[in-house]
Amino acid sequence: MKALVTGGAGFIGSHLTDMLIDSGAEVHIIDNLTTGSIKNVNPAATLHIEDINSDSSSQIIQTVKPDVVFHMAAQVDVQRSIADPAFDANVNIVGTVQLIHVCKQAGVGKIIFSSTSAVYGVSKKERASEDALPSPISYYGLSKHASECYIRLFHELNGINYTILRYSNVYGPRQTAKGEGGVIAIFMSNLHKGLPLFVHGSGNQNRDFIFVQDVVRANIAACRQGNQETINISTALPTSINNLVHRLNMIHGSAIDVAHGPERPGDIMDSCLDNLKAEQILAWRPKVSLIEGLTQTYEYYRK
Ligand SMILES: NC(=O)c1ccc[n+]([C@@H]2O[C@H](COP(=O)([O-])OP(=O)(O)OC[C@H]3O[C@@H](n4cnc5c(N)ncnc54)[C@H](O)[C@@H]3O)[C@@H](O)[C@H]2O)c1
Repeated sequence: MKALVTGGAGFIGSHLTDMLIDSGAEVHIIDNLTTGSIKNVNPAATLHIEDINSDSSSQIIQTVKPDVVFHMAAQVDVQRSIADPAFDANVNIVGTVQLIHVCKQAGVGKIIFSSTSAVYGVSKKERASEDALPSPISYYGLSKHASECYIRLFHELNGINYTILRYSNVYGPRQTAKGEGGVIAIFMSNLHKGLPLFVHGSGNQNRDFIFVQDVVRANIAACRQGNQETINISTALPTSINNLVHRLNMIHGSAIDVAHGPERPGDIMDSCLDNLKAEQILAWRPKVSLIEGLTQTYEYYRK
């Protein structure tokens, strides 16, 4: 299989690249290294340092003609999306539209799009399921939702095959403090520097933390299943930030200083996703428990 991973030098994309290469795939990466790093890139992959919006990217896709495109390159910072919505829309919406357009021309067999729980906004249910009406409260959530709509309409009008995966908060080795769901990366970095953990708001807000390898397995499963479906990828287990701090305390083995500050605009109070559809359609379930994933991540940051 020939695969293209946009954003393959980033956190999730680099782990996906590793798994694809281990399974014998030929992997090409398009990444402009804004948040990604060459250090993350598997040496067996071909890295094209390009912006997804550039003509050269389009030419690469036309030449490589991948069987499957995992579209992960994005502006991933919620706060930046609020400060600069035009930049966010240009990378996330225009970048996606150009990509799917050229994918059709290049005869790509399938696009697997990385979307987010941020499309739901404030969920009315304890666990948001895929049939909930999207109602984002940040431009990042909005640009991801708009990209999803383009992909669906593109299928209707031009027949491109797709799966949309909406991840909850992803964490694990190689994550940087900048990205979406970066709270664990920030806490790990502060822990190892001996700095206090800074909690926005009360710390009672819940998140659904999913380990990166589980997200990668969902992407691989979507290569063969889930055509024209939108599927949550999550643990379906809410964990409060205070509970996260408690678990980190256990792993760290000594008391951690915690400081509280104001809530941030665009941050959702509680976010947890139902994952039954992923089980039914992709035969996928999360395998890594929070304590196991946190321990692996803690060890990574210690090195
Ligand atoms: N991390 C999470 O918790 C989470 C949750 C939901 C969805 N997602 C989505 O998953 C995908 C991967 O996220 P991540 O956490 O690995 O973030 P990341 O920042 O580590 O990876 C994004 C990659 O895209 C690259 N990139 C950004 N703009 C680009 C452009 N214009 N052209 C080419 N490359 C560009 C960056 O350099 C980086 O390598 C994103 O689409 C993100 O929206 C992430």
